[in-house]
Amino acid sequence: MFCRALARHRGKLMNRRSFLKILTLGSFAALGLASLRSLFHLTSRPPRLVFIPSNELEKLKNGPLFGEDYILVKVSGEVLAFSRKCPHLGCKLNFDPVQNLISCPCHGSKFTLQGKYISGPAKKDLSRLNTKPSDKGISLALPT
Ligand code: FES
Repeated sequence: MFCRALARHRGKLMNRRSFLKILTLGSFAALGLASLRSLFHLTSRPPRLVFIPSNELEKLKNGPLFGEDYILVKVSGEVLAFSRKCPHLGCKLNFDPVQNLISCPCHGSKFTLQGKYISGPAKKDLSRLNTKPSDKGISLALPT
């Protein structure tokens, strides 16, 4: 009895067509907002800044420096920074001291210490990271 009264009451306020129209528009609006939110989330995330102090950079005399998410290499006096993520499928890259190369343990892609692609399925160079050197060290901008 209550349901019938409620249905009768709703019928006075809006018919089924109006209700479906509002429901459809509401669904599209919610979907659009969700898409915008994820797009905004993807494009507006600030990079994560990592600071490497000068005393740590001294180790570059002995070869590349592998951090958790980055690789630092000193080439002709210039410090180059790369993402440690393999451009193929994102495995963490390692240093191959025998060949003096950067290599991927997952599918065997190889790169020079300057980040140039040599072989394997990656098919592209390593991603360079933005750096900001200072007297006390170097700041890296890691993508998030
Ligand atoms: S993830 Fe590095 S070669 Fe595939």
